Amino acid sequence: MYRTTKEENEILSRVGPGTPMGELLRRYWWPVGFSAHLKNKPTFIRLLCEDLVLFRDGQGRAGVLGAHCAHRRANLCLGDVDKQGLRCRYHGWLYDCDGRVLQTPGEPPESRLKEKLRQLSYPTQELGGLVFTYLGPKPVPLLPRFHFLAAEGERDCIIQAFNDSNWLQSVENGLDPFHVSFTHGDVWKPMAVEPEKIMFEETEWGAVYKAIRPGRSAGEYNFRMHYIIMPGIASGGDNTVSSGGDLPSNDFPAVTCRWAVPIDDTHTMNLRVRYKPPKQHRVQIAKQLKIEPYKEYKESDDPVLGYNIPAAVFEEDATIVDSLGAIVDRENENLSVIDGGIIILRQLYLKQIEIVKAGGDPLGVIRDDEKNRMIVVGGEYRWISTAERQQIERANV
Ligand code: FES
Ligand SMILES: [Fe+2]
Repeated sequence: MYRTTKEENEILSRVGPGTPMGELLRRYWWPVGFSAHLKNKPTFIRLLCEDLVLFRDGQGRAGVLGAHCAHRRANLCLGDVDKQGLRCRYHGWLYDCDGRVLQTPGEPPESRLKEKLRQLSYPTQELGGLVFTYLGPKPVPLLPRFHFLAAEGERDCIIQAFNDSNWLQSVENGLDPFHVSFTHGDVWKPMAVEPEKIMFEETEWGAVYKAIRPGRSAGEYNFRMHYIIMPGIASGGDNTVSSGGDLPSNDFPAVTCRWAVPIDDTHTMNLRVRYKPPKQHRVQIAKQLKIEPYKEYKESDDPVLGYNIPAAVFEEDATIVDSLGAIVDRENENLSVIDGGIIILRQLYLKQIEIVKAGGDPLGVIRDDEKNRMIVVGGEYRWISTAERQQIERANV
């Protein structure tokens, strides 16, 4: 039986600078904010264990700087946006988006101090309403133009949940077809029944699962195809669009894609883009149930024991994923056949770590403009007939 060792688990989970996974994940662009929110104030963010500020300068350019001022370490999120950049609130040092120190008030005119210093800065790009940054080595790869970001049409970007657990737990949840029945069956009725058939495969961009469930009537099935795209984007069909079998035909697929953005080793931002939602919708950030010893007793003198997860898919995911622990002890798992996808994923990540160590580009890093014109991402949720089911199963033998 495959089992992840404690050593591998450390490698898979830690994302700070200098760690093997941290180095791998630094080869990719990550979404860190919404373009529309960046107005005249900076904001404090954290990505891959690095404290950063995100802002837009007076000329409209987005910037990411190290959070702590080069002068005496004040947090630049308290600073003021200037035409040329961001000014520290403590003593007024001014930085541009590239980390150049433009002003050091009080220094004599002949001072060369500002030329000697540079604030940590990272490149940014905006696409599809999101702001992305890249923390890795130069040369900077291209920001992938996934169709759900770059194609014409409406898109809805939300933060689905802030998890108090390691990023990989959220990624693995996206390649786990059985949890859908048990975790979400109460609110997502067609998924309540267990899959009759599950298939897992590696793909050009990561991995995919296919799951076939009994449908609404005899001879009908529910077919779900859910991808993980490197470095950790789950992509599925949009069930509000395609549940009636009404997939848009001559167009880019309607998908809903979720990044598990590693804030640090034990915090994750799950950020979701729905491409071509049928109508604009706003979803509040899921409030997961926090699990603590003797919680019921702390909350009531006459406690009712047990936990009731709020009946909503995002809350259910966030609660269950956090319940594994802040960093799950994978060495104590006992995997079964339903876990084929996460085995593929872990091996995939470990292999990419070796590629990076050897100086190569890992899966999903692109430097070819031609290839990056439009990257069409899959994901399906639809009803199929017995004949289609047979076709899908035959293609997977
Ligand atoms: S700490 Fe930022 S200017 Fe002094
Ligand atoms: Fe889920």
